[in-house]
Amino acid sequence: MILHRPRRNRKNQVVRNLVQETHLIVNDFIYPLFVSSEVKDKQEIPSMPGIFRFSPNALLREMEECLNLGLSAFALFPHIAEHLKDNSASESWNEDGLYLKTIKTIKEKFPEALIITDVAMDPYSSFGHDGVVENGEIVNDKTLEILAKMAIAQAQAGADIVAPSDMMDGRVGFIRKALDDKGFTNVSILAYTAKYASGFYGPFRDALDSAPKFGDKKTYQMNPANSREALRELELDTLEGADFVMVKPALAYLDIIRVFRDNSHLPIAAYNVSGEYAMVKAAGQKNWIDEKRVRDEILLSIKRAGADIILSYFAKEWAMDNC
Ligand code: PBG
Repeated sequence: MILHRPRRNRKNQVVRNLVQETHLIVNDFIYPLFVSSEVKDKQEIPSMPGIFRFSPNALLREMEECLNLGLSAFALFPHIAEHLKDNSASESWNEDGLYLKTIKTIKEKFPEALIITDVAMDPYSSFGHDGVVENGEIVNDKTLEILAKMAIAQAQAGADIVAPSDMMDGRVGFIRKALDDKGFTNVSILAYTAKYASGFYGPFRDALDSAPKFGDKKTYQMNPANSREALRELELDTLEGADFVMVKPALAYLDIIRVFRDNSHLPIAAYNVSGEYAMVKAAGQKNWIDEKRVRDEILLSIKRAGADIILSYFAKEWAMDNC
């Protein structure tokens, strides 16, 4: 006699629904968006089908569509003209520059939209690095000053959450203090806590034209082989005052998401990055996989692993299919 028959809990859709442990909802998602001064309306990124560089006006239309779907949290990244880039990312605190002006306009037009800004030098860096370059090295402490300036400028423009994606040591605490000193105690910090040196960022660097001009990012981003080191970063960002901690990429790092979930009371975010998106799109276009099915399975796996929040280029199409 077989006493235990787990299949009984799978016998029809209603039973399956009752016992389903993990559910995705639109509130789980943050949608990354790219704004550019170099495009007229919108321009598709070849390695990210369905994802665009938007002009500021086109961006507002895109956000309105998202808001109507119930998708209200956006991570905004700037595509900066090459001639504005330098080794101190000075364009990043230019109030009349594309990024800060766009944030202001968004907050005027859609005060209900949650704007998460990117704090990192690479979109503005002539070297394509996340820090100041001196003698071929990425200098930590000088970079902190620039990141703080950038974060303050973004808070002034109306950012709800600033998200340092640079992996410099001490930046969460440094930015927290700088924001508080200027009175921005209500601006939150979403820390890219365990950000790995990953091949999965390729299409994003295409989108921003931000690939490093020399070397790689291995002296600041983490070694994909390490998991205890992620706990060390988690401890530091927590002590320094992060409001959210993030694991990035997501799919090849589901174990790290779980380690974070089991070791933190902070909300855990995971970034389903550009390369993860591109792989699914490419295989889908070739009809090698059922794209939507694989998409939903991946997004569920990230939530099941322990993420409360998912940054994903799939967010809008998921919302269109489910809301
Ligand atoms: C850099 C940054 C990167 C991404 C977000 N911020 C790439 C990098 O480190 O070069 C990647 C996101 C993605 O691949 O979707 N500050």
